[in-house]
Amino acid sequence: MTTFHARPYVIINAAMSVDGKIDTIERNGASISSEEDKRRVLELRAQVDAVMVGGNTLLKESPKLTVKLPELEKLRIANKLPANPAKIGIISNANGLNIHGNFITAGPARRIVFTTNQTSAEQVNVLQELGVEVYQIGEKRVDLQQALDTLSRLGIRTVMLEGGGTLIAEFIRLGLADELRVYIAPKIFGGSSAPTLVDGDGWTESAAKKLTLVDARVFDQTGGVLIVYRL
Ligand SMILES: NC(=O)c1ccc[n+]([C@@H]2O[C@H](COP(=O)([O-])OP(=O)(O)OC[C@H]3O[C@@H](n4cnc5c(N)ncnc54)[C@H](OP(=O)(O)O)[C@@H]3O)[C@@H](O)[C@H]2O)c1
Repeated sequence: MTTFHARPYVIINAAMSVDGKIDTIERNGASISSEEDKRRVLELRAQVDAVMVGGNTLLKESPKLTVKLPELEKLRIANKLPANPAKIGIISNANGLNIHGNFITAGPARRIVFTTNQTSAEQVNVLQELGVEVYQIGEKRVDLQQALDTLSRLGIRTVMLEGGGTLIAEFIRLGLADELRVYIAPKIFGGSSAPTLVDGDGWTESAAKKLTLVDARVFDQTGGVLIVYRL
């Protein structure tokens, strides 16, 4: 008998400048969130089963993706959850993934890497020996539908997708995201080469994705704004 698993509920969460950039032209992982927003992000991480990032973010920044605050870890443990959500990387070729980087080392946390056959068997072994769960699905890029099916089977019901713009675009294109939460910082980064909230190839006017507003509020003393849309 086959068991039906609904795909995980996916919340896209990101911070951007007023002009829609999620980093500057330097692409060094610019700090965009205010202190209050950083706290909101950690609280959201504490509520989900898994946190996900794309390959470029993983290779350049190797983010920790943990809840960081001891009180949030304690709250999860009190709710019979692991101290941190699972960390998920979507990366076409993981050969360059730094095994000493925060994504691999910061925890404790379950670490799951979805990659393709471009990643060598040797690197898969190295990652697995570090306790990382590795799935090779897709030729040029990771098959996201299959990745979500796998996560469902692993019991992951909620995923927070933190970027970058290429992976976010693909989730939206495939209709695999449910919610969009964006903190808009009172800053302008500019630059056509700076990554935006949704990159990829874009859509024509008639195919533009329509959203339903759930919440919009001036979020803190800095003049930042939080917007929440249903996709
Ligand atoms: N402000 C924020 O909230 C925030 C959060 C996270 C990241 N960022 C910023 O975002 C920037 C990176 O964004 P990015 O758009 O360059 O990269 P990204 O979204 O982090 O990663 C995209 C890459 O993942 C790989 N990939 C594998 N399977 C994929 C699939 N099915 N769909 C899409 N991608 C897939 C592709 O690598 P290949 O092209 O090699 O195949 C693709 O180029 C950085 O500057 C980072 O600082 C900002």
